[in-house]
Amino acid sequence: ASKKLIDTLAETHTLGRQALLELLQDTSAETAQYLFAKARNARHRVYGHDVYMRGLIEFTNFCKNDCYYCGIRRSNAQAQRYRLTPEQILECCDAGYELGFRTYVLQGGEDPYFTDERIATLVRRIKQRHPDCAVTLSIGEKSRESYALYRAAGADRYLLRHETANAAHYAKLHPPELSLENRKRCLRNLKALGYQVGCGFMVGSPYQTVECLAEDLLFTKELNPHMVGIGPFIPQHQTPFADKPAGTLEQTLFLLGVLRLLLPNVLLPATTALGTIHPQGRELGILAGANVVMPNLSPVSVRKKYMLYDNKICTGEEAAECRLCLARRMERIGYQLTVSRGDYLHSSSYS
Ligand code: 5AD
Ligand code: FES
Repeated sequence: ASKKLIDTLAETHTLGRQALLELLQDTSAETAQYLFAKARNARHRVYGHDVYMRGLIEFTNFCKNDCYYCGIRRSNAQAQRYRLTPEQILECCDAGYELGFRTYVLQGGEDPYFTDERIATLVRRIKQRHPDCAVTLSIGEKSRESYALYRAAGADRYLLRHETANAAHYAKLHPPELSLENRKRCLRNLKALGYQVGCGFMVGSPYQTVECLAEDLLFTKELNPHMVGIGPFIPQHQTPFADKPAGTLEQTLFLLGVLRLLLPNVLLPATTALGTIHPQGRELGILAGANVVMPNLSPVSVRKKYMLYDNKICTGEEAAECRLCLARRMERIGYQLTVSRGDYLHSSSYS
């Protein structure tokens, strides 16, 4: 029965709520392998065996929000807070350029120090130095005007995970001042402003049910984003969710496969969180349908401080290490890291 559902999904790129629920309840190894083979097929037709890389620059871990799952929430008094200077950020970009990166993801907490003007200036300076590079922002919920300003400064893409598409579940993961409604409004605004937009969610977050996951998939399909970031929830010991179990490798891979078939052209990262719960997590993610990796480009001195969850990988001593490490990892499974902006492809035939 599950194979039938996967066939339908592979052909029509859609499934109803009931069918999704049914499929999500059968993550047996046999069904999963069947799904991953179809997902790889879909991915190869659009993106071949190329894996795009994004240089992740974690430029501030100050945050005014207090999400219950996140290690850099404002209530975590033990977090060692840091901010990179514009010069440090530009140095990361320059070093990244030499390593073949053509996309930078500026990610940070919602840090009021970085005013709209400061963000816009930063984006302008990066685009000036590296006009052939795409700049992605991942700095949370802002007004439409702010998003417009960054866009005018040259920002190309924006990542804002919706975290869960179920409002009741959203309220269990966030304090009352944050709402799913506002999150969705932000995503719609970003799309309307012409960004390449990424939504996404955690797999196995506390109180998540398969119904929640089905809603995540339906919402994602409806939004039709260019990118979708998913990874397992991993507890962080200084948060209210310290004792909650982590999401599983199997369920995360399964969702990557389903997402590839729902949105064949989507840019789908095998995330650091996935690499954290299993030594081959990212390779398995690529083999389940993902086509993007996001090596860490942050200065080595701050990497251990951007601890959204425990035991995060890639906090090593060598700045260029991740790039080389991932190139080897991809080659070993028959894929190659490419030097390219890695834009969303609308066509469906790889040449
Ligand atoms: N485990 C896994 N992912 C997390 N994120 C935040 N905290 C955790 C955690 N404990 C994810 C959120 C956020 C992204 C930047 O990191 O989905 O959107
Ligand atoms: Fe970062 Fe392997 S990718 S160390």
